[in-house]
Amino acid sequence: MNYTNEELKKKIQELKERLDVTVVAHFYQRDEVYEMADITGDSLELAMKTKADDKEFVVFCGVAFMGQSVKVLSPEKRVLMPKMACCSMARMIDSLYYDESVKFLEDRGIPKEQILPITYINSNADVKAKVGEMGGMVCTSANAKKIITTALGEGKKILFVPDRCLGQNIANQMGLKSMVIGVDDTDPKDADIICYDGFCSVHQLFTVEDIEFYRKKYPGIKIAVHPECDPKICEAADFVGSTSQLIRYISELPEEQKVAVGTEYNLVNRLRPKNTYVLSSTKPECPTMNETTLEDLYLTLKSIEDGKPVNEIEVDEKTVKWARIALERMLEL
Ligand code: 13P
Ligand code: SF4
Repeated sequence: MNYTNEELKKKIQELKERLDVTVVAHFYQRDEVYEMADITGDSLELAMKTKADDKEFVVFCGVAFMGQSVKVLSPEKRVLMPKMACCSMARMIDSLYYDESVKFLEDRGIPKEQILPITYINSNADVKAKVGEMGGMVCTSANAKKIITTALGEGKKILFVPDRCLGQNIANQMGLKSMVIGVDDTDPKDADIICYDGFCSVHQLFTVEDIEFYRKKYPGIKIAVHPECDPKICEAADFVGSTSQLIRYISELPEEQKVAVGTEYNLVNRLRPKNTYVLSSTKPECPTMNETTLEDLYLTLKSIEDGKPVNEIEVDEKTVKWARIALERMLEL
């Protein structure tokens, strides 16, 4: 296809005007794709705003678990993804690994009834369904502390999947004891939060040396990071938050305040023209978020107009039922 980006943008705009469709994009999308979206936000906002939207079609520019969450919350909507890109963290766990984690706890004397599972939204629908069926719920980086506080009220052990960093960071913030299955040999009976050993490869790029480098180079600089970063990074940072919370924090800083940000490159790059730095010498690009191009978006919208929608998200009925319960428990809070 030989269209320029400007031509593609015009065609996309025209298709959006003709079709009963909402285009949704996560903050980590390429700029040119992000600019075409009707709804943007962090994972929590995207789930809530898209659920409230009344268009027949949703074209979701992000990674697969996000499109699946829209389908699970609103099975009547037709959800298409310009690229079926998979978050690498979400792929670190499936329903079999989930069952094994529960068995690990049972083998160490914690019965299933004493386990309350919480899954980070960065997980596929089958894992969310397993969690829902066991009485648990979903959390996002924006509400993890609130969800865990509520869950602790039930007096059970929390099994947190799949992001060990988010689980450990919340435990540290709340003064709770955490352990990671297969990594440390703490008895799970002595821990409040038992984490699965999953992580985000993009957020693992940030190091304590990066923080020291910036603090030495620009005394007084603020360090703001996403809670998918290692606990050592979060402890050393001035601010830890979801993508929306990072954007808000940085937009409220005085213009001359320097800040180094530990999250995906596309988001950081669009924050402020001056005084905002990427907290890594290696460009922290999420490969899967970057898969979606303007051309993919155009072709997906065109497929709706042609009556042959492509890349439609399908989730079976049983998975929808339990994954929806896990997501709705979160939204109710
Ligand atoms: P947010 O929910 O903070 O947008 O994070 C999503 C994500 O994938 C971060 O890597
Ligand atoms: Fe998944 Fe990490 Fe990419 Fe977020 S940045 S979508 S957690 S791989």
